[in-house]
Amino acid sequence: MKTITVFKGDGIGPEITDAVIDILKAANAPLDYEFFNVGAAEYERHGALIPEEAFHSFEKTHLLLKSPITTPIGKGFRSLNVTLRNKYDLYANIRPAKSNSAIKTPFPNVDLVTFRENTEDLYIGVEYKMNDDTVHAIKLITRKASERIIHAAFKYALSHGRHKVTCVHKANILKMSDGFFLDIFRNIAKEYPQIESDDKIVDNTCMQLVMHPENFDIIVTPNLYGDILSDLTSGLIGGLGLLPSMNIGKDFAMFEAVHGSAPDIAGKHIANPTALLWSACMLLEYIGENNTAAAIRSAVDTVLAENKMLTPDLGGTATTEQYRDAVIACL
Ligand code: NAI
Repeated sequence: MKTITVFKGDGIGPEITDAVIDILKAANAPLDYEFFNVGAAEYERHGALIPEEAFHSFEKTHLLLKSPITTPIGKGFRSLNVTLRNKYDLYANIRPAKSNSAIKTPFPNVDLVTFRENTEDLYIGVEYKMNDDTVHAIKLITRKASERIIHAAFKYALSHGRHKVTCVHKANILKMSDGFFLDIFRNIAKEYPQIESDDKIVDNTCMQLVMHPENFDIIVTPNLYGDILSDLTSGLIGGLGLLPSMNIGKDFAMFEAVHGSAPDIAGKHIANPTALLWSACMLLEYIGENNTAAAIRSAVDTVLAENKMLTPDLGGTATTEQYRDAVIACL
């Protein structure tokens, strides 16, 4: 039995977390759970976005299943997600996007993984007001952070039978910062001669992803481009309800859906819990519980293929709970 920390989050967070935990329990996942309310709602109640006990729990379990958290815009709050990634040095944000034959999209052949650097770039959030009419933001690229995300992408390619790593950048304009990232990529690529490597400018990448997504295998990229591109890849496979992720560092691992707290549908019980569920499957695989993960993935595939119990984002009318029950029935 492994104990994991669970943050229920804001908006649709509690609804999808409950559904996912019910499915994990029905699959007899060998997990114990320590639950915490975190986020804007917790701040309103107790004056802290994340209670101290929640940090302590993660520091003990080293495994976190996290629901989305609302970041109030322009109110001086640092994003909790960014805080967690930095506090626990979760430097690699890994976001797999794979077409599912049951989900009809114009892009049936997507099977790619985005490796997004998770600790620096513009996301350090250092901004200065120079005067009433000018604001500066700092884009930080370091050798250490670049090397470890690029090595992580190549190592993943080797261990997962992938054939190509593409570096995405804007080095034609940001010659020093993105140029540095690209130079590091080219040097590291020489250490992995078995894996093909190439690079693309981020704007061209957006077009190529839509025209020929099958040409991409693994993408490695600085923080901001990774954030934007991975939302684009979720659109290719059927929407944000289907894109899981893991954030890993040397000592800690956090698993979360790529989507946010979806305030527009919160409390309506129509949110799709699949992205969080697949993130939980990544957690199970991370701790070696491959069979349980495979059973859950297979149950989800069956429900999607039956096409009867889909949530509205996938064109159906099922509630989160009806979808959950259908997955449990297939287990
Ligand atoms: P969002 O991802 O919450 O929603 C974008 C659109 O996708 C909405 O129309 C929403 O209804 C839909 N959607 C998202 N997840 C869905 C699901 N599971 N099932 C069905 N539909 C789904 O992005 P938005 O609205 O820009 O952000 C809302 C809040 O979430 C903001 O405060 C933002 O900072 C925060 N956020 C948190 C993240 C995290 O905790 N990891 C990641 C992204 C945003």
